[in-house]
Amino acid sequence: MEILETRVDTNSETYRENKRVMEERLEKLRSELKKARDDRSEKAYNRHTSQGKLPVRKRLELLLDRNTPFLEIGPLAAWNMYDKRVHGAGIVGGIGIVEGREVLINANDAMIKGGTIYPMGVKKSLRLQQIAMENRLPSIGLVDSGGAFLPLQSEIFPDAQNGGRIFYNQAWMSKMGIPQITAVMGLCTAGGAYIPAMSDYVVHVKKTGAIFLGGPPLVRAATGEVVTADELGGAQVHCQQSGVSDFMAEDDADAISMIRQIVHRLPRPTKHPLTMQAVKEPLYDPKELYGIVPQKLSTPVDCREIIARIVDGSEFMEFKSMYGSTLVCGWAYIHGYPVGILGNNGILFSESAKKATQFIQLCDRDKIPLVFLQNINGFIIGKQYEADGITKDGHKMVAAVSLAQVPKFTVVTGGSFGAGNYAMCGRAYSPRFLWMWPNSQVSVMGGEQAADVMISVKNDQMVRMGMDPLSAEDAASLKQGIVETSEEESHAYYSSSRLWDDGILDPAQTRDVLGLALSASLNAPIPDVDGSCVFRM
Ligand code: COA
Repeated sequence: MEILETRVDTNSETYRENKRVMEERLEKLRSELKKARDDRSEKAYNRHTSQGKLPVRKRLELLLDRNTPFLEIGPLAAWNMYDKRVHGAGIVGGIGIVEGREVLINANDAMIKGGTIYPMGVKKSLRLQQIAMENRLPSIGLVDSGGAFLPLQSEIFPDAQNGGRIFYNQAWMSKMGIPQITAVMGLCTAGGAYIPAMSDYVVHVKKTGAIFLGGPPLVRAATGEVVTADELGGAQVHCQQSGVSDFMAEDDADAISMIRQIVHRLPRPTKHPLTMQAVKEPLYDPKELYGIVPQKLSTPVDCREIIARIVDGSEFMEFKSMYGSTLVCGWAYIHGYPVGILGNNGILFSESAKKATQFIQLCDRDKIPLVFLQNINGFIIGKQYEADGITKDGHKMVAAVSLAQVPKFTVVTGGSFGAGNYAMCGRAYSPRFLWMWPNSQVSVMGGEQAADVMISVKNDQMVRMGMDPLSAEDAASLKQGIVETSEEESHAYYSSSRLWDDGILDPAQTRDVLGLALSASLNAPIPDVDGSCVFRM
């Protein structure tokens, strides 16, 4: 394979300035992640630990194999939402290694409003379940939750993708043969009682763990019966009388040790075999990405410079390098795994869309996972391009992306706008994982363009009604409002907060994160492609 050559001048002023700006962005990212991890009130900490319970991060540390990576999902979920303190949407979740096996973990953080479930917490749980299902990962729940966050119950309870879906998914996961292990380390109240009830294995911690459909306050209000949480749904009741729980643990650490034993004895399906190569570090330092990523999304960047700092040995076999040049397609290895990469080098034209379609179909047939490096303004527009059938060619690419059955991974390295988001495997196209870089943005179009469109629509409307078009002043004020809203709502933090992505990545970590994700994805078999041959577009 050809080694990618770099044209980056690491001594240039532009490089140094880009690096400075990216380092500032990374400092902010680290500080937001730290806040999400550590910002808990003293009252909540004391209340939690005085009951003999371990903080959620400590539980995780005991659960995971020592010195193994944890691929955290949505650490900034609910960022700046609610009272700005429902960090990670009250849940710590991700893929970790337990007894040498990749598993999916969903752990309530009871130091955030008693571990109650906010609307974004429901969304995060559903996303974690989707990851478990798509990648066939055993699922471990560390439950410690006061159930629905009652003031927002209308956003949590009634709809199809609300709380009930969690238990619905549990039934399907069981049917799919995905083991589910739940440790009851605090309350599992009301709907939350079904989390252990619908699991395959239930470990119940003495004294602190309780499962009930109605807690003591509700029982007292409804029936007049006065009981403690332990009498109502403690470990003794459920391990000895009801049979809801299977194993009784002395404390948190004991429960975690039992979970590890359960995982140890689970049958281990063989992972999907890919033709691997020995791992080689990239020839160029991934940290050089800091100086390569431009400060402004409007400044173009050759995605080969990015690929060269992500793939093994910076080696890349480019497909149709002279055709459809605004989309770079080709094969490489990441941590030894073969991948097909698609990276934007400008707007999508008919040729680039057709090239992508053929490339995606080739990779899908050959069972080579796909990596999309998104930096895209959209498809080309205009009279000539419409007449030439850009929509028809875009359709081919969007259809190929939709139907590809190989694991797909998307990294938004710059802009993710318009139908380009769709064609380059945006969230709606079921990439197994999607991450944003700190400089990236996602929206239908940039704020300036959106404002210009709205002003043009407004002016047409006024002219139709026989009125004067907007004054320069009114147009400027309309524009400012749209640009400001659009800036805020397209930002990577806004996206991560709403779980439109799985997290914001330090660009230099992209290679390692992709390696972990590729490894996890191979727990699920890659199906054979049925149907017709790969067409030369
Ligand atoms: N909805 C909204 N807020 C809730 C809540 C709920 N279901 N359960 C607890 N909270 C809040 C409390 O108001 C408190 O808020 P504050 O820190 O601003 O004062 C915080 O969560 C912690 O609760 P607290 O009772 O002080 O802590 P604790 O460790 O003693 O107990 C629980 C935590 C969850 C065991 C306990 O609060 C409880 O039993 N909650 C009700 C559970 C329930 O019946 N849920 C039914 C929902 S379907």
